[in-house]
Amino acid sequence: LPVIGTAVADLDTPAVLIDLDRLDRNIAHGAEVVARAGAEMRPHCKTHKTAEVARRQLAAGAVGLTVAKLGEAEALADASFDDIFVANEVVGAAKTARAVALARRITLAIGVDHLTQAQGLSAAFQDEARPLRVMIEVDTGQQRGGVEPGPAAAGLAEQIVRLPGLQLAGVFTHEGHDYDVPDTDLLPAVGRTAQQAMVATAQLIRERLGVPCRVSVGSTPSLIAGVVEPGVDEVRTGTYVYYDASMANVIGDFDSCALTVLATVVNRPTSSRTILDAGTKALSHDRRGGATILHTPGYGHVLEHPEAVITGLSDEHGVVTRGAEGMRIGEKVRIIPNHACPVSNLVDSVYAIRGDVVEEVWKVVARGRTT
Ligand SMILES: Cc1ncc(COP(=O)(O)O)c(C=O)c1O
Repeated sequence: LPVIGTAVADLDTPAVLIDLDRLDRNIAHGAEVVARAGAEMRPHCKTHKTAEVARRQLAAGAVGLTVAKLGEAEALADASFDDIFVANEVVGAAKTARAVALARRITLAIGVDHLTQAQGLSAAFQDEARPLRVMIEVDTGQQRGGVEPGPAAAGLAEQIVRLPGLQLAGVFTHEGHDYDVPDTDLLPAVGRTAQQAMVATAQLIRERLGVPCRVSVGSTPSLIAGVVEPGVDEVRTGTYVYYDASMANVIGDFDSCALTVLATVVNRPTSSRTILDAGTKALSHDRRGGATILHTPGYGHVLEHPEAVITGLSDEHGVVTRGAEGMRIGEKVRIIPNHACPVSNLVDSVYAIRGDVVEEVWKVVARGRTT
């Protein structure tokens, strides 16, 4: 491709850039924190959705991959990856049929948090040669999916082990309520409490049912806080590969942020309004507000103009109303988005850069695989 070897400044915009040195540092750091605790990494690919980053994560010791959707798992299986956990519930005949087809190709695990989903999977898998591995989702405080820790999870486990076609593999949680704490000092306690509840739940299941039960956790703020409790088998962090402006709050600087959106200053209709060619279709609409550790002042951090605040977005426009005095029309700027994961879902390919030069172009193979 002619673009390889060109300067970042010569790329057309908007474009998503991945800083290879930062990416590799982030992957190595995550691997080290998890390995030091005696656990295994099964990174969540929702953040990057690329074969190239997944390959780097596996090369750094990851034991397998995590995704949110069957479609993402199919895309990664097509790219020759094996051992994938869909950390989400899969419901309906169309999906369970796809799960069967996929499980014939790769080692697959799927989340459940209700007997109804487990029965659907059991019906689809009961005549298969290999049982489907299922992981019980446990809510440790995020109040999204998941059964309560302890007896509720053990009760569901008891029902699952009786179903044909399924093999109970373990319990999992996304301790994502740590995103909402008001102060980073509170992170370790929140992460530890959630992970300890998981370890105790798995122990209860082992004791009651006499089966092995893996403990899978994962959230980037917990990883940043270095929390991997004894008894945790596997960590599924996602955002840690790229970080973003929100996670930079937790870390304290922007030096780990590997994903940026290259944009052009296109307009200054009035002295108080400067327009970038990156709107919701380049930065996503994620506004990390409120009194949480993820709060940012705008829709992204402009590296070249740290005082600039992107106060508004429409589809194709980013509106800077503060700190834009130094910006001139035609200038290219790099923006660290508030949330990296949805940004990966907005582009067909990303530019992997070293310093200011494009080294590779990566297809975002699991982009848009939302079913
Ligand atoms: C089920 C599940 N596991 C793991 C993760 C990874 O979280 P993070 O991106 O904070 O590392 C997420 C994030 O949304 C998730 O939903």
